[in-house]
Amino acid sequence: MPDSITITDNRTGQSLEIPIRNGGVSSAEWQKILPGIWFHDPGLTTTAMTESAISYLDGDAGILRYRGYPIEQLAEESTYLEVAYLLLKGELPNEEQYKQWVSDITHHTFIHENVRKRFLEGFHYDAHPMGMLVSAIAALSTFYLDAKEIYNPAAREKQIVRLIAKMPTLAAAAHRFSVGMPFVYPDNELPFAANFLSMMWKVAEPHYSANPALVKAIDVLFILHADHEQNCSTTAMRTAGSAHADPYSSAAAAAASLYGPRHGGANEAVVRMLTEIGSMENVGDYVKSVKAGHGRLQGFGHRVYKNYDPRARIIKRVAYEVFEVTGKNPLLDIALKLEEVALNDDYFVSRRLYPNVDFYSGIIYQAMGFPVDMFPVLFAIPRMSGWLAHWSELLDQDSKIVRPRQVYSGAPERKYVPIDQR
Ligand code: ACO
Repeated sequence: MPDSITITDNRTGQSLEIPIRNGGVSSAEWQKILPGIWFHDPGLTTTAMTESAISYLDGDAGILRYRGYPIEQLAEESTYLEVAYLLLKGELPNEEQYKQWVSDITHHTFIHENVRKRFLEGFHYDAHPMGMLVSAIAALSTFYLDAKEIYNPAAREKQIVRLIAKMPTLAAAAHRFSVGMPFVYPDNELPFAANFLSMMWKVAEPHYSANPALVKAIDVLFILHADHEQNCSTTAMRTAGSAHADPYSSAAAAAASLYGPRHGGANEAVVRMLTEIGSMENVGDYVKSVKAGHGRLQGFGHRVYKNYDPRARIIKRVAYEVFEVTGKNPLLDIALKLEEVALNDDYFVSRRLYPNVDFYSGIIYQAMGFPVDMFPVLFAIPRMSGWLAHWSELLDQDSKIVRPRQVYSGAPERKYVPIDQR
């Protein structure tokens, strides 16, 4: 059987055979017989906007790989910075490359004093840290004039290193400001995740040492959130990047998309939902009300995964490791009960709704002391490496500017009516 499809325009009888390559068919071929007929695909649910060699995702089988490496192996054996290198450069680093990469990132963790003093401190005292982060990322473009040199390899590498390195510093600064605590400078003696926790929680001690189990948990969560192929924020990054906006402006667009509750804000919704359920006895009634159409089970279901999200499985294990240190988050029992009830209920089974990455991450963050406002910020820190990998790939592909078509459904031509006659 040929690996192709045949399209027939019934108005003209004209047919065209289009080959299927890597699971896709080229719309350029389709356009040959159907100029001016657009593929109507709201939410781009069936459109592959690009070819990409970064992440592989099989939603039916529950598989996620970065550059071919299973997410489970990376979470078990790698570090976030090694994974960031892998996503960006396509291969795992050797020892020397890894040392150099960690050193480069570590030496770019500081932010310009004006970003902190004049920019971040200019926000209202109760500003949402994610709003501050989105703006701060965009503001960085005004500090690095070489940011526009996107086809200069050295300048591109510099911005990539700066953005990955400064995310924890900006994130922690946004939190400290929003709770009225003084800014903590990076401690470059510390590894990436430990440094972030030091900037978050240090008070008066000369040196902050986070519990190693919590450092490890944050690093694993960073690995799991580093990339997820063409998700909403990565698509925003690619869209802004396709216009050749500098990486800071493009990343600010991506972070803005991650701010939305349908994307980076879902784990906050999970914590609110579990708090609202309140106790294990109420789980059954809550599930009944969801089935009756009153809201959704937060942290359940996924556009792509129609099986257990592999990241959720790893996060569930991390939750127990964190609770060994912090004490159990009382919401865990409600979450476990909810999962058990839903996975045995035909409504969820028939719709293939399983826990996603956000189902357990929120209760881990909460147990570690992060306020819910910080949840999307915690997502954005590692996703920066994925955004940048896609941005760099897009530039190397010499990709066209993203400019979709529309199916117009508005008024036909009509005559302007002066205001006094309307
Ligand atoms: N609870 C109850 N029912 C649900 C849920 C849910 N969480 N998710 C989907 N459904 C139902 C829908 O009502 C629909 O039922 P119907 O066929 O009877 O109308 C069916 O399942 C299909 O749902 P869609 O909305 O078509 O699925 P879609 O792929 O568009 O949505 C989404 C995916 C947005 C993630 C959805 O499952 C959802 O809202 N989940 C809750 C929010 C959430 O956890 N988001 C995090 C996503 S992961 C991330 O961004 C990192």
